[in-house]
Amino acid sequence: MSAGKKNTVIFISGRGSNMEQLIKASLSPNYPAKIIGIISNKPDAKGLEIAKAHNIKMAIISPKDFSGKKATDEAISKQLEQWNTDIICLAGYMRLLGKDFCKKWQGKIINIHPSLLPRYKGLDTHQRALEAGEIEHGCTVHFVTYEMDDGPNIGQVIVPIEIGDDAKALEKRVLKAEHHLYAWALEQVALDKIKF
Ligand code: GAR
Repeated sequence: MSAGKKNTVIFISGRGSNMEQLIKASLSPNYPAKIIGIISNKPDAKGLEIAKAHNIKMAIISPKDFSGKKATDEAISKQLEQWNTDIICLAGYMRLLGKDFCKKWQGKIINIHPSLLPRYKGLDTHQRALEAGEIEHGCTVHFVTYEMDDGPNIGQVIVPIEIGDDAKALEKRVLKAEHHLYAWALEQVALDKIKF
């Protein structure tokens, strides 16, 4: 921890808009988490440009460079330990972490997902919610366990589905809610107000 703030590392695979919002929230003097590093499994993840602009340390740890899942996860753990990581935020990290990794970091690793879990785990959540005729959709931040998009919820935001919504319009509104929810959820976890 640095100056009472929890050392937080964000994992991304792509655009990094949730990552950017967490970085912005963390710049507030009273915010209890400091973003000290970004880990990406993709060397061309757009979010890396944002991290660079904020002078945050980055590590690209790609499964392609290792002999298997276990070796990749161990390299990630090693990096996290070197950075003295307290909390890990998955923010559009589209790679499944192994059982040992999830156990090792249990209670310290959280994820954002674009649905009201346990509904719509996996991909294409907006399209699936529309096709099912839902009247509400939303997003969830939860503690990570080995099961995909599973683990105890930290918080959810409900986003009403509006007449005429297509997946793109719905995604845009849910993403806006994600940005608020994730900054709030990380704060709760960093303050130990919500625990695994
Ligand atoms: C977000 O909508 C996030 O909830 C989703 O990927 C997007 C990443 O966007 N994550 C998952 O689907 C995880 N199961 P971002 O890179 O702009 O934050």
